[in-house]
Amino acid sequence: MTYLPTLLGTLRLIGLSPLGDSPIDPSRNVVQGGPAAAINDIVTVVNARTVIEVGSWEGRSAVMWGRELSARGDDWLLICVDTWLGSVEMWERESGDWSREKLVIADGYPTVFTTFASNVRRAGLGKHTVALPIDSAQGLELLKRHDVVADVIYVDAAHDFVNALRDIRRALALLDSTNPRSLVLCDDYMAQWPGVREAIHVSAREANSRIFVKDAQAALIRESATTIVDELEKRGWSESLLDAEHGDAIGDGDGDGDGDGTINRLTRELRDRHETTMRIESKLRATRQELLEVKADRRQLRERLAHRRAKGHDGSHTAATQSRDARQELRQVRSELDALKRSRSWRITAWLRRLNAISRWRRQS
Ligand SMILES: C[S@@+](CC[C@H](N)C(=O)[O-])C[C@H]1O[C@@H](n2cnc3c(N)ncnc32)[C@H](O)[C@@H]1O
Repeated sequence: MTYLPTLLGTLRLIGLSPLGDSPIDPSRNVVQGGPAAAINDIVTVVNARTVIEVGSWEGRSAVMWGRELSARGDDWLLICVDTWLGSVEMWERESGDWSREKLVIADGYPTVFTTFASNVRRAGLGKHTVALPIDSAQGLELLKRHDVVADVIYVDAAHDFVNALRDIRRALALLDSTNPRSLVLCDDYMAQWPGVREAIHVSAREANSRIFVKDAQAALIRESATTIVDELEKRGWSESLLDAEHGDAIGDGDGDGDGDGTINRLTRELRDRHETTMRIESKLRATRQELLEVKADRRQLRERLAHRRAKGHDGSHTAATQSRDARQELRQVRSELDALKRSRSWRITAWLRRLNAISRWRRQS
């Protein structure tokens, strides 16, 4: 072991050491399965000895990395960065492999780290595996500050665009520059996770990298590492052509792959929301106008009614004629009032009248 002691010495400075072989909790056992073939390809092609895994969960992929690294010798180290508190989708799902059930919440707090540690130790990889239980942004920053770099950074933590992009950007900054083959590998490059895909596209553009894919694993190949392209292709990896295959990489649909897709999509969303707001405002204006008209009609009717009543008392007609005229006018006014109340305008402005009544009542009380 030549390389490992130096790296372990650096990690010890920030309180980190390998998991070791402490007792294993037999009840915490993970189902195997996952992108073993892709991980084997990457370790071989990159000639990797150091891997930083961002997002480890129960240790499924950590065990795969450890097995591949250990198959090549004893001089290797895997650093796993995770809060071991789960992601949004795990909290939302009640049961299954990636769910609340696997968080094993005890006294209100997840204990999935025990599952992770048990699985790594059971696989005999504890001496070469260091856990960094912290948020990915801070974990990667901490490693950067202490000049910890790696041959492969595996990104599989939060799956939303903003967090995935931030993780990939930070991961790119931790690549070992002395290894021209070093690369960032991202899990879940698939339609089910559009945020992850978009983050991979954006960061690939920013880093002037090509994307090679196998089994939903996406490797970002920098220009300086293009020598490994042939080897990856021989192993079944294929390039994800941002412009031709997927249209524009981040969805602006103009096919020029200029990386403006995100901005264009957000601009479109903003424009749609603005139009909706304008439509609602114009509907509100029309409703207010109808209310004013209804009020004016009602005032007119009341005035006519009052006028009629007053006329009934002026003594210019005989009592019988006055009374008949008054009744007739009253009937007419009432029928007009009923028609008004049945009208659509009256019904649709009911909420505004109620609002006015409430505010009048508030002012008075
Ligand atoms: C999909 S799982 C990782 C699966 C693992 N790579 C495997 O294949 O077995 C995602 C993990 O990322 C962790 N995670 C999510 N957001 C994180 C963040 N911001 N910082 C650190 N870890 C995070 C969760 O706790 C969870 O363990």
